[in-house]
Amino acid sequence: MVGAPLVGALRPEKESIAMFLPSHVIVRVPATSANLGPGFDCLGLALKLYTTFEVELLPGDMAHDCEPLVEISSAWGDDPAINALPVDHRNLFYQTLARRLADLAVPVPAMKVRASLGIPPGRGLGSSATAVIGGLLAAEAIAGRTPSEKQRASLVNAAVALEHGSHSDNVAAALLGGLVVTTWDERNDSWYAVHAPLPADLCAVLFVPVFPMDTIAGRELLPGQYTKADAVHNLGHVALLLAALAVGDLQGIGAAMNDRFHEPYRARIFPQLPGLLAAARSAGAHGACLSGSGSAILALTTERTQEVASALAQAARSLNIDGRVVIAGLDHCGATVESDHCGPRVEISTSSREEIVLRCAACNRRFSLERTAYRCTCGQPLDVALDDVGTARNGDALRRCFDERLSSLDALDRSGVWRFRELLLPLPGVEPITRPEGQTNLYPAGRAQQSNGHGHVGEFTGLDRLWLKHEGENPTGSFKDRGMTVGVSIARWLGAGAVACASTGNTSASMAAYAAQAGLRAIVLLPEGKVAAGKLSQAIAYGAEIRQVAGDFDRAMADVERVCLDEGIYLLNSLNPFRILGQQSLAFELLQQFAWGVPDWIVLPAGNLGNTSALGMGLLRARQLGLIDRLPRIASVQAAGANPFYQSYLEGFTALHPVKAQTIATAINIGDPVSYLRAKSVIQATNGLVAQVTDDEILQAKAVIDRVGIGCEPASAASVAGVKQLVSRGVIQPTERVVAVLTGNLLKDPGAIMLAHQASRQTLTGASL
Ligand code: F0G
Repeated sequence: MVGAPLVGALRPEKESIAMFLPSHVIVRVPATSANLGPGFDCLGLALKLYTTFEVELLPGDMAHDCEPLVEISSAWGDDPAINALPVDHRNLFYQTLARRLADLAVPVPAMKVRASLGIPPGRGLGSSATAVIGGLLAAEAIAGRTPSEKQRASLVNAAVALEHGSHSDNVAAALLGGLVVTTWDERNDSWYAVHAPLPADLCAVLFVPVFPMDTIAGRELLPGQYTKADAVHNLGHVALLLAALAVGDLQGIGAAMNDRFHEPYRARIFPQLPGLLAAARSAGAHGACLSGSGSAILALTTERTQEVASALAQAARSLNIDGRVVIAGLDHCGATVESDHCGPRVEISTSSREEIVLRCAACNRRFSLERTAYRCTCGQPLDVALDDVGTARNGDALRRCFDERLSSLDALDRSGVWRFRELLLPLPGVEPITRPEGQTNLYPAGRAQQSNGHGHVGEFTGLDRLWLKHEGENPTGSFKDRGMTVGVSIARWLGAGAVACASTGNTSASMAAYAAQAGLRAIVLLPEGKVAAGKLSQAIAYGAEIRQVAGDFDRAMADVERVCLDEGIYLLNSLNPFRILGQQSLAFELLQQFAWGVPDWIVLPAGNLGNTSALGMGLLRARQLGLIDRLPRIASVQAAGANPFYQSYLEGFTALHPVKAQTIATAINIGDPVSYLRAKSVIQATNGLVAQVTDDEILQAKAVIDRVGIGCEPASAASVAGVKQLVSRGVIQPTERVVAVLTGNLLKDPGAIMLAHQASRQTLTGASL
């Protein structure tokens, strides 16, 4: 979309070129392992070891007079194979970049390249492929092109053509990530590349010898012809390997990784190979093989990763071979590109990835989308700036598109989050981790709505038209799944290996479930003794690593931010702007359920204030996009024992004074909310308000919601308790249309059920006296 006009603009004269070029392009390319044993020249697997190329485009004329053109650094110390790499225009990265720009009819600008090698050359880990894919994608970025996911797959052709060796396996995996099968498709005269599924917990252990092996010399060892028996053997083994990986048959993987095409011949110049492979297998690797044409060795593991690593190190010592053992996760995203652009590009209003940035609502500073510290340098949380996304389409077209998806069977359309994907995440290459979530019921429960037993909630609150939006019907039982599907998808897209959050319970349950689905490690920090049983059980069951914090949620929140920054873990609290983005879908889905009409009020419980912020931001964007023509008022309800937002509201939002929180509604037992500023502007922009309710009022409301057969956890009942209070104070009129959001499921907090029951009996007894 952006590409075409920019390439055009690049051509005519030099002055305009300088205006349009980015000043930096950074391409990060994963290492890859080809063959996996039997898949000679057709299988490639991307690994979480990266080489990064940073291109600095220099002002001035088009000649490159800067020496050396390529500056190389490496995590591998003094390696002769690295020292031998050319640093002038013969460098493979630079050559590929220049050739691709020539193909695109774009002149080669002056530049300086810095390459940080995560893998040494000549070890069969795709180091040439990193240079080719790096050069190719850097050229695309310089030419102003952002290939879509589909276009990326078709770039395999260009990459193979640029990589003189005509090997598609490494380049395809480096470009696309994951396990990629490539083959020449003679019918269409092009390379065909397709992803194959992998078990989520599969890990790679590498042994990287100090000596390289020359790919070309290695090929010369291979026979010119193979017997039919060998061909059938390898064919069957590739098929078995792909099937075993797809269904997670770990034994099958081991049986399949047996090759007759190249390993036996290469072992002749690498006599220690069989001993190293045997050591990895007997320590518990599911399979082990020569990586590409060597010299590295690849072992695939799930649980016994550490043991396999030690066994390889020990075998290398006893076989007298020097080298390093590396444990690497699998890369599922392929190469990533980051570039900055100057003025004119920003003015081209589209919804492509380049225009989307993280922005500080307080001071307006902007940061790259891939920043993982989610506070601005001024300390405030960052938001995804999507102001313009979708404005090109009018409200009618968007409504039609979303409504058509209601009858689709596609998992993304059925998700009450991804159904609205154009408004949430118009980023190419993000693979949604979805259950699907959302699509929760909106129960009519007002006195005038013929809602049978549910109407008791209307009687309790004094409202004729009341709806309960039950977010406890999400896959893990709370509204958190809406933000988590987006947050975890982004974590994967960014290549995170682990995710973490602090939580009063629901966030941790949700994160643990989505992280398990995505194959990511999950770490949760919980305030000790303050998390309801249902939620803690979920986090344990879904396999999260639990760290109990001696203190309250606010302390756990402060700890987790530090842990994430220190340990390079991806943070998934609502401080993360992608969580807030996903939670905006509550607004879109609710409006769709109202046939794009607007209720008068939306009332919801408030703790860390992420949900209040997300709901408000979603509503404001819905109005801006023409999906609705007016805004409902938002009422945020806090527990009286955890009410810093309420107190600030009473003081005209002049400041926030954190409190020591104490409420029976453990989910909202929060004294220092992270999203205060976001929520404050939402309340102001929607002419909303903040209320507080006592624990007793919460329990009574819960008893009514439970008793009509709907049920919710205590924090959720704060919304209905708030509605009742606002009606009795005359703030909400009995005839107004009100939605109360129930945020969590009844089973989350079994301990509160009897308490609510008792509270309602006491009220009844009191009333009858
Ligand atoms: N309701 C429930 C059931 C919750 O779990 C939470 C927050 C809220 C309401 C308040 O939403 O924080 O966005 O204002 N639970 C978080 C957690 C804090 O860790 O599960 P908020």
